[in-house]
Amino acid sequence: MKTKPFRILLAAALMALSIPLSGVAEKNIPPVDKDFYPYAPSLIKWEKTSAEFTEPQTCAGCHPQKYEEWTNSMHALAFQDPIYQGELSAAIKAVGHDIARQCEGCHSSAAVVLGEIKGAGITGLSPLAMAGVSCDVCHSIKDHTHWQTPSHQPENGSMILSPGKEGPDGPVLTKYGPFSPDEECGMGFHECVTSPLHLTSELCASCHQVTHYETHTPLEATYTEWKTGPYAVQNIHCQDCHMVEIDTFKRSADAFIRPQRQEYHHYFNGANFLLYHLAELAAKKAGDEDLAANAHKKFEMSVARLQAAAEVEISPVYRQDKLAEIKVRVKNIRAGHNLPTSLTNIRQMWLEVTARDAKGALLMSSGSMDEQGKLSTDIRIFNSEGQNEGFHFAIDPWEIESFSSHNTIPPKGYRDVFYGLALPKGTPVTLEVKLRYRQADQKVAEKLLGLVPEDIHLDAIYGLKEIPILPVIDMVSKVVTINN
Ligand code: HEC
Ligand code: HEC
Ligand code: HEC
Ligand code: HEC
Ligand code: HEC
Repeated sequence: MKTKPFRILLAAALMALSIPLSGVAEKNIPPVDKDFYPYAPSLIKWEKTSAEFTEPQTCAGCHPQKYEEWTNSMHALAFQDPIYQGELSAAIKAVGHDIARQCEGCHSSAAVVLGEIKGAGITGLSPLAMAGVSCDVCHSIKDHTHWQTPSHQPENGSMILSPGKEGPDGPVLTKYGPFSPDEECGMGFHECVTSPLHLTSELCASCHQVTHYETHTPLEATYTEWKTGPYAVQNIHCQDCHMVEIDTFKRSADAFIRPQRQEYHHYFNGANFLLYHLAELAAKKAGDEDLAANAHKKFEMSVARLQAAAEVEISPVYRQDKLAEIKVRVKNIRAGHNLPTSLTNIRQMWLEVTARDAKGALLMSSGSMDEQGKLSTDIRIFNSEGQNEGFHFAIDPWEIESFSSHNTIPPKGYRDVFYGLALPKGTPVTLEVKLRYRQADQKVAEKLLGLVPEDIHLDAIYGLKEIPILPVIDMVSKVVTINN
């Protein structure tokens, strides 16, 4: 008679046990409120009225200089960028169509809320969609939702777009800008609204902080790198380095002086010299010399920014009175965030070091590149490596859930690299040290450009018959002789 209840008890006890014993913990993924964020996985919001978005060509009529500065910027190219389009196709194939909204929310925001972009490719799209991060994306930003996001940080487009409002006689366009408007502002085409947000990094944060579409772990963290560094404390914002000429940027970085109103320009110039170069090729192919010159200017500006970002110090290390090692200290002197930043698992910044004796014979070399653009395996590189759910190496943003290493250089910080070089006394050694940068590994670039949708024809648009060896820029180049 006693066996039955005993068995029930035993079963109940086993069931209770089986919950913790069954192993794997449930993932801690912050939920997304789909009513609040209707375009999830993009976290953009749209205050919908009958006021429409305006294409940049219309703004150009009254703001020609801003238009020229923005033209060929990374923002203007953000959607047409063939490297982006290649990765977008891969994302859709791997995860399904919904992920496209995440990408496009930052690469062509207005087109996402209007439901215009259906997948990778450019055929049949409006000038507004093609214009990527256009005038009216930024100047319709009314507010942000940075602290309400699933990660409680800026991420994946956490901004509110509001291109206008209902007026008594139909829609009224409202443009958010930094300055106190006077009565003439907008000349009847738009109203002007003073927006202090536009002079701070929080405006840029919505898009310059990319998180995984599902787990919300940070993948590109330019904003938080800035926010946790010295420039945020000194009140130097993204605009103060990226929306000004090179000399003004250097002043912002060195003396922490915010630029005057008239010093700002719509360049949004960073490090991507490769894309400016492609834009120049496209303009030449289309026979537009002015546009090619515009792109070339931006190419030179990005090279100058890269070449102003870092410094290298070389010093010998002696042990027991003998030269034992060479120390190379790489300092991030002028990037407001880590160096490099954002796609730190794709961008490549590395040291190439050679040591020669007095007769020129090679004693040591590291970080060289062969004719196919392949880097030697002994390379000292300042990047990060992503890993997937199972902690295996991963490179695509929908796979990376964490990083196995971060080796980028914080703002105003440095990293030391040591090269073993044991030499007897009395043998002078000449060292050549270069800090080199390119957008991606040759194979990664070939893979992405190989995936571009069919309507982006690399030969017809850029005149590229094959994928060239990616250009490399020397950010710093130094030769020293140690009279060992
Ligand atoms: C939160 C905004 C945001 C989201 C979401 C986003 N990106 Fe980006 N993406 C950026 C920014 C900002 C850069 C520029 C970083 C840089 O140049 O260092 C960028 C750069 C890129 C690049 C490099 C382009 C080049 O020319 O080197 C590729 C490729 C890319 N994104 C693909 C994607 C794909 C695919 C998705 C969706 C899975 C995506 N992005 C989602 C903001 C975003
Ligand atoms: C990535 C965001 C972004 C984009 C894209 C953008 N702007 Fe701006 N704009 C800003 C910021 C930030 C400021 C404040 C700094 C400044 O004064 O330039 C500003 C300022 C302005 C101002 C007022 C400043 C002045 O000197 O009169 C005008 C007008 C303007 N932008 C027009 C445009 C036009 C036209 C375009 C497209 C061709 C455009 N913007 C694209 C962010 C943007
Ligand atoms: C009919 C002419 C006209 C057109 C078209 C026009 N603007 Fe303006 N806008 C003005 C004038 C005039 C001002 C006054 C300040 C100035 O001259 O820069 C102004 C000021 C601004 C400001 C500064 C507002 C502030 O408070 O700081 C922004 C931002 C701006 N415009 C964005 C745009 C954008 C974006 C477009 C396209 C969607 C656009 N404008 C189209 C005439 C125009
Ligand atoms: C609506 C989203 C969005 C906003 C807002 C935005 N950006 Fe961007 N930005 C992008 C995307 C997307 C790219 C990269 C395009 C690509 O690589 O194809 C980019 C590229 C850049 C680059 C070029 C990076 C390089 O590798 O050369 C700079 C610099 C930059 N942004 C600065 C800013 C600044 C400063 C602000 C704020 C005033 C800002 N951005 C606001 C989306 C945005
Ligand atoms: C003190 C000046 C300074 C400030 C402030 C600053 N940057 Fe930069 N930024 C640079 C320099 C210099 C480079 C080129 C070196 C590099 O790639 O990091 C750069 C590069 C970049 C790149 C391209 C990175 C790559 O290697 O592809 C992006 C994107 C960018 N910045 C965005 C931002 C954003 C967003 C902010 C604000 C949160 C910001 N920057 C603040 C100086 C600055």
